[in-house]
Amino acid sequence: MISLKNPDQIGKMRVAGALLYEVLQQVRAAVKPGVTTAQLNDLAEKLIRRNHAIPSFLNYEGYPASICASVDDAVVHGIPSKKQVLREGQIISIDCGLILDGWQADSAFTVGVGEISEAAQKLIDVTEQCFWRAARQAVAGNRLGDVGHACQELAEANGYGVIRDLTGHGIGREMHEDPPVYNFGVPGKGLKMRKGMTIAIEPMISAGDWRVTCDADKWSYRTRDRSLCSHYEHTIAINEGALPEILTYPDFVWKEEA
Ligand code: MF3
Ligand code: CO
Repeated sequence: MISLKNPDQIGKMRVAGALLYEVLQQVRAAVKPGVTTAQLNDLAEKLIRRNHAIPSFLNYEGYPASICASVDDAVVHGIPSKKQVLREGQIISIDCGLILDGWQADSAFTVGVGEISEAAQKLIDVTEQCFWRAARQAVAGNRLGDVGHACQELAEANGYGVIRDLTGHGIGREMHEDPPVYNFGVPGKGLKMRKGMTIAIEPMISAGDWRVTCDADKWSYRTRDRSLCSHYEHTIAINEGALPEILTYPDFVWKEEA
């Protein structure tokens, strides 16, 4: 069932989204060689709680942490660890969610640890572009296939693979609501979007093949061919006759398409 949100409810999600943005900015600034993924997790959790919010990932279906930290060939759901010390040249995806006043925000980004290769930076940049390209399609009257196709087209034009096994999702009072939001698709197909829908779009893009495996910890997904993978996510609100509001990116201003 898809729940539409009224302007008051979207207002609450905007406040949750703004807090998550600040948390993720701080965590991003803390990424450097020598830092452990557990330290990044502790920072995020401390900032969330200090601002009277709840880390939504913690204990979600038994997940043991407040962020997902997925390094290099890890796709998503990497469990932070004191033993995982970041090294120069790696890339790390940090995914985090929180609940404020009963409303959810969910966002992720990928960043290099110190200096990274040109190829790795390109993967990160194209993944972000895949998100923005997809988000431009997320307007009332368009279909989810338009969103997925926009992402897929750009990723594949760059020779990358779009992860199929994991998707974006509706979001609101729950972190995962209907509908699933695929990062691939056929234009004009799929669910028609409506004003008041709030969704998380989250492209997961592999430098190689899109197939994934799950680690023995039952959480961390990894590319099967061990190629690098990047992830980028925002929670957005669908508008009618206007581009979506990026709830986890306060004051974001849309520009003319390049
Ligand atoms: N943020 C993830 C998503 O985008 C969910 C994290 S799963 C959890 O759907 F178990 F870590 F909470
Ligand atoms: Co999500």
